[in-house]
Amino acid sequence: MSDSSVKVRRLSDLQTLVSLSKRRGFVFQSSEIYGGLNSCWDYGPLGSQMKLNVKLAWWKAMTRRPNMCGIDASILMHPMVWKASGHVDGFSDPLVDCKDCKTRFRSDNTDSYINEKKCPECGSKNLSEPRNFNLMFKTLMGPVDDAGSVIYLRPETAQGHFVNFLNCQTTTRYKVPFGIAAIGKSFRNEITPGNFVFRTREFEQMEMQYFVRPGEDEKAFEMWKEIRWSFYSKFGIRKENLRFHPHGPTELAHYAKAAFDVQYLFPMGWSELEGIHNRSNFDLTQHTKFSGKSLEYFDEAAKEKFIPYVIETAVGCDRLFLAFLCDAYREEVTVDEKGQEDVRVVLGLHPEISPVKIAVMPLSKKEELMNIANKVYSQLSEDFAAQYDESGSIGKRYRRQDEVGTPYCATVDFDTINDQCVTVRHRDTMKQDRVKISELNDYVRKGMKEF
Ligand code: GAP
Repeated sequence: MSDSSVKVRRLSDLQTLVSLSKRRGFVFQSSEIYGGLNSCWDYGPLGSQMKLNVKLAWWKAMTRRPNMCGIDASILMHPMVWKASGHVDGFSDPLVDCKDCKTRFRSDNTDSYINEKKCPECGSKNLSEPRNFNLMFKTLMGPVDDAGSVIYLRPETAQGHFVNFLNCQTTTRYKVPFGIAAIGKSFRNEITPGNFVFRTREFEQMEMQYFVRPGEDEKAFEMWKEIRWSFYSKFGIRKENLRFHPHGPTELAHYAKAAFDVQYLFPMGWSELEGIHNRSNFDLTQHTKFSGKSLEYFDEAAKEKFIPYVIETAVGCDRLFLAFLCDAYREEVTVDEKGQEDVRVVLGLHPEISPVKIAVMPLSKKEELMNIANKVYSQLSEDFAAQYDESGSIGKRYRRQDEVGTPYCATVDFDTINDQCVTVRHRDTMKQDRVKISELNDYVRKGMKEF
């Protein structure tokens, strides 16, 4: 990489990543053999491991702090939750139907409609009036199919934090300020899903609510902006691809007193990655009103009761997964004397995010090498997600691992039989080290820490 004759090309279109994801087992179209299901995706052998790493990185960053705890709340909640939260009445998009081609589209973000009142598909002006369409998925609970059985798939995990606010506070015995973090599936019947896993109807959220004394909310809001920014820096998201976007008065959600998006420069342009919101005491006040149960906090030192304000950080796991892939993708291009291009595709993922940490490769299929390589693989697998790869030339095997972001490859060669060492090759620098097998796990652990 330090070689100046190597040119680096970054990702310019999402399709390159969609193809790589399918080819290498990161993400597949859901129900593909039936023709797929629009906007639904399955995470494959590498993708499911990487997604787990993304969640673990977030979970550790959020819960390994003083006065922070985690919960795992149910997807199905009491229907009154969504009345109280404002989702039943307010969580909707304005939709217009084209009476000619039957396309249904949003009236508030479709240019052809905003400018000329035309259908974006066929250009017809034979359109319905905009009607509000609620984004929550409905289902029925229990065997009776009537209006009383209707419940919703949650459209955000946050309400699980609010209804468990006092359960968490009393069991942890935390004093305000304290925070609750959770990771879980949410569902929204989005009108315009798309851009791969960026906007889907079923997705995973990683949300945190920080409960503070009123008056201390603005300071906490600034604190969480900094914490979340440093999370992205720590995991190597390039600074030039990240920015804060403050919400103007017309962008603010019904619950928010102030909000900032963390935006990432995806191939389709700057888009929201995470929302950081000051939700004031809106939610706890609403749940107090609708449930009839007080959600006030008693401050023993000050001998006073209050309803805490809430600072929320909310990021989509799938969206962060996509941002990591976009940011990590590079093509290293070298051109030989005859003008022939050689392209090394690398996912320069942070090792904590990479699905595989180290690949073990016997130089040949000779039994004595394969036996050692298998032992090395077992030793590494005790601590890391490792892979065993014996097929193809070593060069090809390195390239395969580069393309899926594996930071290290350990080659077992004929010298290994005598010196009990392997050659460790680094993904980014292609530097090679000779390392004792007995010290290999520590070597990888140290390298990952210092990355
Ligand atoms: N509790 C607040 C909340 O849900 P949001 O801005 O609607 O706020 C938070 O969602 C994050 O969840 C977004 O920044 C995005 O990363 C992710 N997200 C929201 N809708 C999504 C969708 N349809 N597909 C994938 N991720 C989504």
